[in-house]
Amino acid sequence: MSKTLAILTGGGDCPGLNAVIRGVVRSAVGLHGWRVIGIEDGFEGLIGKVRWRELNLEAVRGILSRGGTIIGTSNRGNPFAYPVERDGIVELTDISDSVLENFKQLGADVLIAVGGDGTLRIAQQLFEKGLPVIGVPKTIDNDLQATDVTFGYRTAVSIVTEALDRLHTTAESHHRVMVVEVMGRDAGWIALESGIAGSADAILIPEIPFSIPDICQTVKNRAERGSRFSIVVVAEGAVDKAGGKSLLKTAGENFGVERLGGIGQRVGDALALCLEMETRVVVLGHLQRGGSPTPYDRILASRFGVKAVDLIANGRFGEMVALRGRVVEGVSIASAVARLNRVDPHGELVKTAQHLGTLVSCNPNIH
Ligand code: F6P
Repeated sequence: MSKTLAILTGGGDCPGLNAVIRGVVRSAVGLHGWRVIGIEDGFEGLIGKVRWRELNLEAVRGILSRGGTIIGTSNRGNPFAYPVERDGIVELTDISDSVLENFKQLGADVLIAVGGDGTLRIAQQLFEKGLPVIGVPKTIDNDLQATDVTFGYRTAVSIVTEALDRLHTTAESHHRVMVVEVMGRDAGWIALESGIAGSADAILIPEIPFSIPDICQTVKNRAERGSRFSIVVVAEGAVDKAGGKSLLKTAGENFGVERLGGIGQRVGDALALCLEMETRVVVLGHLQRGGSPTPYDRILASRFGVKAVDLIANGRFGEMVALRGRVVEGVSIASAVARLNRVDPHGELVKTAQHLGTLVSCNPNIH
């Protein structure tokens, strides 16, 4: 029986989104002869006047290697907490019934929600209200449970690693300390893996509060051994033992989501006070999310797109595609969003960095 699939991409953009869309369309249209429509700008496209476009084979031609998303995205538009103005006061309101009604009017059979924690939570809530939903895990932060990895993450790690390689040459030539702030929200995956790959001297992750005196000591020890430069990678959600984390905007100011940022400058300023070395701060920001996905992410995103269609063919609604070992399979969306996937402070990856001589947030022998 013919079906109409609606797909949306929600939350921050991420390399590989277009590869998922292409995988869905090629498999649904090409293999099954179904129809696919793209909802524009995430859940925003289902609020008020519905915005969508036809996604046929022609529409997805040439997009495999393109960053961003051809159907747009938004990290606003949570139908369960949508800002509605009443008598001059903005209140977060549950408008999910109108979203379900809009979806019904579209005549689509299923919604494929491609997104991170926030988008998939909304998808799960809509599923619980009766909407047939399939999830696809996206985020450079790699903070979703139930999948070994999210697409986009490995591209971000390679962008940061390349940046660290480049910064090394300046750090070494000028005998400087370079502090590099990276994304990842409350998970330290990007900082830790790119820090290992890019040979950072200190890596500050949110899962282990960091100590400025320990970082200073690490830099001084290196200088005494003849390495008169250091690279410090700091995750945007890293927490100073002495002073907490750094926010650009609180959840209250930003539709329920904290905006992280500024910890790199704080670390740089503190190091400049305790070291007699020049210190510079680099914030990699959205460079980590832009541009072309790596071959790994193109392949993973394509597998996810194809598997999403396969789950639909088998009526497996409420499930999310996930990489488990070597196989892409379906898991419940609920299991993916139950809690964040964060770095294990006592895990093998942290130990690897420590045994390589890298400080991970603080010196475990002192604290
Ligand atoms: O979740 C992806 C991410 O890039 C985080 O690493 C970062 O904290 C956040 O999005 C930034 O969001 P925005 O693009 O809204 O500034």
